[in-house]
Amino acid sequence: MWVIKMAALCLLAALGSAAGVEKKLSSHAATLADNSANLAFNLYQNIAKEKDLENILISPVVVASSLGLVALGGKASTASQVKTVLSAGAVKDEHLHSGLAELLTEVSNSTARNVTWKISGRLYGPSSVNFAEDFVKRSKKHYNYEHSKINFRDKRSAVKSINEWASKSTDGKLPEVTKDVDKTDGAMIVNAMFFKPHWDQKFHHKMVDNRGFLVTRSFTVSVPMMHRTGLFQFHEDTTNNLYVLSMPLAHKKSTMIFIMPYHVEALDRLEKLLTRKQLDNWLGKMEERAVAVSLPKVSMEVSHNLQKHLADLGLTEAVDKTKADLSNISGKKDLYLSNVFHASALEWDTEGNPFDTSVFGSEKLKNPKLFYADHPFIFLVKDNKTNSILFIGRLMRPKGDKMRDEL
Ligand SMILES: *[C@@H]1O[C@H](CO)[C@@H](O)[C@H](O)[C@H]1NC(C)=O
Ligand SMILES: *[C@@H]1O[C@H](CO)[C@@H](O)[C@H](O)[C@H]1NC(C)=O
Ligand SMILES: *[C@@H]1O[C@H](CO)[C@@H](O)[C@H](O)[C@H]1NC(C)=O
Ligand SMILES: *[C@@H]1O[C@H](CO)[C@@H](O)[C@H](O)[C@H]1NC(C)=O
Repeated sequence: MWVIKMAALCLLAALGSAAGVEKKLSSHAATLADNSANLAFNLYQNIAKEKDLENILISPVVVASSLGLVALGGKASTASQVKTVLSAGAVKDEHLHSGLAELLTEVSNSTARNVTWKISGRLYGPSSVNFAEDFVKRSKKHYNYEHSKINFRDKRSAVKSINEWASKSTDGKLPEVTKDVDKTDGAMIVNAMFFKPHWDQKFHHKMVDNRGFLVTRSFTVSVPMMHRTGLFQFHEDTTNNLYVLSMPLAHKKSTMIFIMPYHVEALDRLEKLLTRKQLDNWLGKMEERAVAVSLPKVSMEVSHNLQKHLADLGLTEAVDKTKADLSNISGKKDLYLSNVFHASALEWDTEGNPFDTSVFGSEKLKNPKLFYADHPFIFLVKDNKTNSILFIGRLMRPKGDKMRDEL
């Protein structure tokens, strides 16, 4: 009897691992994943208020880990404000750091997720600073940060060396983080990323042609547009005149969600609607149906200085020279957070896993809805396992030559 039971247990265990039963996220990591999704919308909304800003691209889980770094270097209320921004007041310090580390390791695992996601982080300090050994060790362990001193007396070469580092860490995909730095007397966080998803079902490489993308009603640029008809989760919000489309990425662990108005318009109307609750509401109404998708091939590089935006969300002490206590970085109260550069290069093209040919010619693909992305839209990469938002952004102006206006 015992033998049979043991055999059954072994068999179950074997089946479990063969089916790839996934490791569950710890409760701290799950909490922080959820909180970083709230941060995503608040931060996006705050950035969208910037005047004359076109494309937006941020990775909320990476921002959360930059905040973790501030908590690691901070003391007293400078450190506790980080938890407030992350709505993680009840999370213990060690759980904050291990949870954020676990989350980022999980979502950026390129083998498990079939994405290319290079994430590099560096903390720059003025040449006078001495990084405390313990801080260097812990920030490397939890957040994979490098540390570097920089001499801003020669500003041009300082900026050049930051850009060179970013370019090198992204294999040249992100040649520039910033053209200039105005505050040169504090600690500076720099994130440089390259993200390239692999579609769950690819676009045919021949189904690409040049089309016009309407940046505004009177300004059009020429972009390579990919076309594919397939079965997708789709929702048309006829009250708000917009479409929501979800296109899974390979291994279906995450999905790219597009939110696009019917016609070309400035995105502020949509952005006013864009909350986490509204997104969940839309996602709850999605239905699988045939959609003829036309999507520009995209290669965008976007860099934001989040210092002011994080201050707007409540991180007021770390950024204030007179109040900041970041003495766990250097052992002295000599630093404040002067810049938070968050820069990413994103590319998507036709590549993905083979498409499901079994639906071709079937009734299911008849009368597809059209999703013709030839004007500005908002997009998110949402993780299915952790519910975190890997990226949120908007495409207002793709790269491309200006097309002659048709009269
Ligand atoms: C600051 O560093 C000391 C020494 O490593 C550590 O004991 C303390 O917990 C740190 N403070 C915070 C808020 O992390
Ligand atoms: C990434 O995922 C693979 C496959 O699921 C797993 O074997 C590996 O341990 C993961 N790597 C990390 C760093 O978690
Ligand atoms: C994704 O999967 C495809 C097909 O298995 C493979 O060719 C590609 O290299 C993978 N990409 C990454 C980043 O893992
Ligand atoms: C997300 O995960 C759920 C199960 O947790 C699954 O039913 C669903 O199909 C997944 N969604 C995508 C887009 O893979």
